[in-house]
Amino acid sequence: MATEPLIASAMGNALPPEEVVFGVSPAMAPVRQLVGKAAGANIPVLIRGESGTGKEIIATLLHEQSPWAAGPLVKVNCPAIPGSLVESELFGYEKGAFTGAQVAKPGRVEAAHGGTLFLDEIGDLDPSLQAKLLQLLQDGNFTRIGSASDKHVEVRVVCATNRPLEEEMAAGGFRRDLYYRINAITIHLPPLRERSADIPMLVEYLLEYYTRKYNRQPARLSALIMGEMCRNSWPGNIRQLENLIRRYVIVGSEDVILAELLSRSDDWALPVPNGSCSLKTVTREVVAKVERKFILRALQAANWNRRRAAGALNISYRSLLYKIKEAGIPPHRSPVRNNVQREEA
Ligand SMILES: Nc1ncnc2c1ncn2[C@@H]1O[C@H](COP(=O)(O)OP(=O)(O)OP(=O)(O)O)[C@@H](O)[C@H]1O
Ligand SMILES: [Mg+2]
Repeated sequence: MATEPLIASAMGNALPPEEVVFGVSPAMAPVRQLVGKAAGANIPVLIRGESGTGKEIIATLLHEQSPWAAGPLVKVNCPAIPGSLVESELFGYEKGAFTGAQVAKPGRVEAAHGGTLFLDEIGDLDPSLQAKLLQLLQDGNFTRIGSASDKHVEVRVVCATNRPLEEEMAAGGFRRDLYYRINAITIHLPPLRERSADIPMLVEYLLEYYTRKYNRQPARLSALIMGEMCRNSWPGNIRQLENLIRRYVIVGSEDVILAELLSRSDDWALPVPNGSCSLKTVTREVVAKVERKFILRALQAANWNRRRAAGALNISYRSLLYKIKEAGIPPHRSPVRNNVQREEA
């Protein structure tokens, strides 16, 4: 039986330093606090957050800061294992349990004994296996397929999901008792758009990481690009940022980044109309965002020739200059002012 490889993030096993993982933005403060509190206790943790927000990174950190750090960290990506194999992968089987089971094989649960079992995308776990997992969480006991007797393990179970488990529970797809078991502690990872203060540091870390990994010259980013990255809404969160930086390091051109950042124009969340913000204000803000992006697109397409960009936008050169100033668009390729760029390799 093919063993599905342990899921590995693009960063391999290297965890970013803690100050990079948690950043400085207030949205991450509860995460830092909960990780600190939960790491040391053998209590199930549920990590929630949009795709690419770093759920696996936090699960790894929880393991590394736990008293079982010397033990195994076994990651199971539930949807990646074909349905019929999930039970044997997780719980193992005895010799002769089914056709082809010529030798007994322990499952991932046993492999995690003395360490952490990380169940990724727990919402995808088949209802028939949810009961077996519940038993494991209750007393550490489980049975291999084809075995008459229980086995016992000591494991900390960490689960992750980006799905609305409550809705699935209401619809009957996820067991209520399991839901309450796995989320003794829930850590909510904020989307990247709610922690834009952390973007410069993340960028610096990722630039350095990929520059070293691909053996490139230290990459520099202009203030323009950094500013646009901080404004971006990042629907793919840190994974999207990481892929973009990696592409930039390999291709070596800021145009790659800008083209992606400017390709979307629907990246604002409209507030709930509750009297606190007027139609006028909201409209003005949205228009300003569209205008800014459209101007940048025109500038990029005109190779930063402002006269040509003005022509493409069908406005006068003078009004383009005014709008550029008003929107606070820095000159193309002017360097970032903070320490994001490095002097030597
Ligand atoms: N704080 C961070 N610093 C640097 N890289 C990070 C950070 N958080 C996440 N990453 C990187 O972003 C990518 C996505 O992180 P991760 O796989 O942990 O997210 P996820 O929430 O599990 O995503 P998905 O829901 O898609 O599985 C990974 O390559 C990871 O290394
Ligand atoms: Mg993940």
